Amino acid sequence: MKEKNKKFYITTPIYYVNDIPHIGHAYTTIAADALARYHRVKGEEVYFLTGTDENSQKNVEAAKKKGYKDIQKYVDEMSAKWQETWDSLGIANDDFIRTTEPRHLRAVKKFFETVYKKGDIYKGQYEGLYCPGCEAYVTEADLADGKCPNHKIAPRKIKEENYFFKLKKYEDKLLDYIEKNADFIRPEARKNEIVNYIANHLKDISISRVSQEWGIPVPIDEKQALYVWFDALINYLSGIGYAKDEKNFKKWWPADLHLVGKDIIKFHCALWPAMLMSAGLPLPKKVFVHGYFTIDGQKISKSLGNVVDPVELANKYGVDEVRYYLLREIPFGEDGDFSVARLEERYNAELANGLGNLAARVLTMCEKYFDGKVPPKTSGSVGRTWQSYEINMEKLKLHQALIDIWDLIAFCDQFINTEAPWHLVKVDKERLERVIYTLLETIRHMAWMLMPFMPITSDKIFEQLGLSLKTEKSKNFEKAKEWGGLASGKKIKKGTALFPRLE
Ligand code: MSP
Repeated sequence: MKEKNKKFYITTPIYYVNDIPHIGHAYTTIAADALARYHRVKGEEVYFLTGTDENSQKNVEAAKKKGYKDIQKYVDEMSAKWQETWDSLGIANDDFIRTTEPRHLRAVKKFFETVYKKGDIYKGQYEGLYCPGCEAYVTEADLADGKCPNHKIAPRKIKEENYFFKLKKYEDKLLDYIEKNADFIRPEARKNEIVNYIANHLKDISISRVSQEWGIPVPIDEKQALYVWFDALINYLSGIGYAKDEKNFKKWWPADLHLVGKDIIKFHCALWPAMLMSAGLPLPKKVFVHGYFTIDGQKISKSLGNVVDPVELANKYGVDEVRYYLLREIPFGEDGDFSVARLEERYNAELANGLGNLAARVLTMCEKYFDGKVPPKTSGSVGRTWQSYEINMEKLKLHQALIDIWDLIAFCDQFINTEAPWHLVKVDKERLERVIYTLLETIRHMAWMLMPFMPITSDKIFEQLGLSLKTEKSKNFEKAKEWGGLASGKKIKKGTALFPRLE
């Protein structure tokens, strides 16, 4: 019997549409895309979901500022811009969820009713502070000089009758779950942060707001709107058919990976799991928390005027080039700094002089010494690189997997220098054949390893090696990793440089 394909359901946060995407948002989405592509390469059935968070007050304020009376029109236009951005960055998401869609409203209604029936929602008095920038309740302790340190605004005082979710009730269960499932929250430091938060600061949470014109109505009380985070988290369910297509939902849930930035871990590692426990649903297998990009050492922010548009960047340097830089620059999980100067440095050193130069050198030698025909097959292996690369991909060490590829590039450069093909051509033609075949075939393997990160480049390399894209890419993963995939006698097609040097 054919073994059923493994499934892999991966999500990004859904983004607020109060502005267009910047390089930080692109970072999360590109990382998710690379992981989704990797699991597809492995032959798994993948569902990659991203989308927009549209019921936020932030969106309403942005719409009004820009003179929109019709909020829906504003979020429609903005959401389309986010989708376009992802398209132009080579993001191959399987679906795009918007929280103003009927499928989401239906899911939220069902979810709320389930939790309500469970007895986990009650009416109570909320009195406290709220930061509209964070869309979160805050305490005096969270503030600096009376202002939210992230948004530099004074929080609003709120006193009203709200519906509450019994978050505190789940304290022990959450701690127990996190302890028993060592891999649930990654990296380790984030897990410790969350355990501390749950053990010391968990409180029931208000999940509705009175007199709010925008938002999903509380299913049992039309006069109140749901707190945006309570609705937003449910996107991970509505995007796979919860409350609509039970079969599809069962197929994909629980998510294999929620990818989130460090700013939103309380919501994903405390509130969300508690909501799921209350609704009687299994928890996501893993929440991976990545770090934050600053720009030249500064927080990315409109008021500082340092926002970098990922599309502009990609137009200037190329889509794959930007994807490469973002995923290579900082160890996945840690914080780091973005700078155009660093991007250009990496471009010249690692893309132009590294990968691009190696490919050009090897293809040129194949043309020169063998009339552009792949020499006879010889034995060889890149098994060790594959092994390390796969371990790193599984552990989400994306930068490390890229380093594996670049180590292989350095190895090939070294190999060329020690073998000196320009000398071999005069003295040992057989050895020259072995050297050139080894190099060409190793480059084929590199193209496979690059596929999740730099899909356009990977295709170009296959074509330059004279491979049919369709045939090569339809190979299963095990076959692709075997040595000797490049057939002898085939004509290569050198073409233009992969990465022309920047001056
Ligand atoms: N709408 C909520 C998420 C709801 S998920 C159910 C939200 N949206 S957001 O538009 O503010 O996007 C937040 C995410 O964007 C972060 O978690 C992070 O993944 C990404 N980033 C935003 N700025 C970033 C950097 N400067 N650096 C890295 N990632 C950044 O929060």
